[in-house]
Amino acid sequence: IPVDDFDLVIFGGTGDLARRKILPGLYRRYCSGQMPADARIIGAARSDFGTAEFRDMVRDAINEFSQKNDCDENKIEQFLGQLHYVTIDAKGEDGWAELKGLMRDGVVKSFYFSVAPSLFGALAERLHTNEISDKDSRIVVEKPFGRDLETAKALNADLAEHFDETQIYRIDHYLGKETVQNLMAVRFGNILFEPLWNAQFIDHIQITVAETVGVGGRGEYYDRAGAMRDMVQNHLMQLLCLIAMEPPSKYDPDAVRDEKLKVIRALEPIAPHHIVRGQYDATETEQSYREDAGDPKSRTESYIALRCEIANWRWANTPIYMRTGKKLKARASEIAVVFKETPHSIFGEEAGKHANVLRIRLQPNEGITLQVTIKEPGPGGMRLIDVPLDMSFADALGDEEDVPDAYERLIMDVMRGNQTLFMRGDEVEAAWAWTDPLINGWTARNDVPKLYDVGSAGPSDADMMLKREKRAWREIKE
Ligand code: BG6
Repeated sequence: IPVDDFDLVIFGGTGDLARRKILPGLYRRYCSGQMPADARIIGAARSDFGTAEFRDMVRDAINEFSQKNDCDENKIEQFLGQLHYVTIDAKGEDGWAELKGLMRDGVVKSFYFSVAPSLFGALAERLHTNEISDKDSRIVVEKPFGRDLETAKALNADLAEHFDETQIYRIDHYLGKETVQNLMAVRFGNILFEPLWNAQFIDHIQITVAETVGVGGRGEYYDRAGAMRDMVQNHLMQLLCLIAMEPPSKYDPDAVRDEKLKVIRALEPIAPHHIVRGQYDATETEQSYREDAGDPKSRTESYIALRCEIANWRWANTPIYMRTGKKLKARASEIAVVFKETPHSIFGEEAGKHANVLRIRLQPNEGITLQVTIKEPGPGGMRLIDVPLDMSFADALGDEEDVPDAYERLIMDVMRGNQTLFMRGDEVEAAWAWTDPLINGWTARNDVPKLYDVGSAGPSDADMMLKREKRAWREIKE
């Protein structure tokens, strides 16, 4: 699907996200021929750079963060030719006239706010008062979108003063991941799953986002956020919505987001014993969370496990277990839909317990597997084993398939004017409305996170939470 001809301004254009993701991503799309020949990318930041220095920085960023085979010298130079830079004062007057002069008329003017949320309001206002943006402009904003309901509402109000909701693209990069979109294709493109997709046939669902990285380098931000604000309120809840929502009438931005919103609004409050917070502890070779965060008394969670319920007909009494954490034993993100056992086993007790599991693997090794029960091959009688029906994307689609990274895909969606994979303002507010009381609850209780070793599967209390219900977490492995 073609993109509209655009000029894109990246506020915070010299920052970490721009260097790691946004600019190398745009370069990859350029290489795929998706960037219009005259499109301009304008970096805007505080640093007193010139365009030449900015291009040097972007060249280095592409070499460092793109896959090696992407780095064709000539292509990079051509791409750099489309780049410009303006030194700008987000809260003052400097640079705005120059920015205006760099932008073309008659193309979509997009603005990526890759800056602290405290600057969102000032940027929106200056774009408007300097008549740089127009009614067709699009703005892209990064998380964190607030730190609670009140701050999220204030951000929404600031943006709404100058931009209509149809112009605002709130990024959650998990929605740009290949498998996450496949989740919708699997659910709504097949007749097989949907009839079984409810409390009658599903025993429970597990959503795991396990990371091996710690918070080194981002300790200051992270210590004020914690896993709940950093990961659950956005990424995990988005996954939950896609897994649990009703089929939208069409694959269109508001139809999809209306259904997601209903899921969030139907989430039950969570009792304290259904929340386990953890913090990684030092080992002989690794620092503790508190050392990384620079606060020896920090009570911020670097791990959280929750047992959620959605109060509606489809999901009544079906637990949805979510967990995410840093410095765990492996980087592994997956959703497992665990079906119920057959109502009666004709093979007797010795055949053991078996259940179908649909496993949607986000990263690494993206793919979807369905665990089915079959007879063990050989002469040993009717012995049953569980084997995966496998659809790993690399095998099915071939390695050469140019699967764009989440950011690339989402930025191109902005240029196409497609908001389906972006969060709407009411959705973000509803997510905070659900998380706020949980965070306030443990803060009021002076809850201290349970320690877990770096490289482990998280605190044992999280295992206990499932064990009490005669269930177990799936193993965290790559
Ligand atoms: C970010 C969080 O939004 O997502 C980080 O702020 C986290 O703490 C990251 O590490 C995980 O993203 P991914 O794509 O590596 O799973």
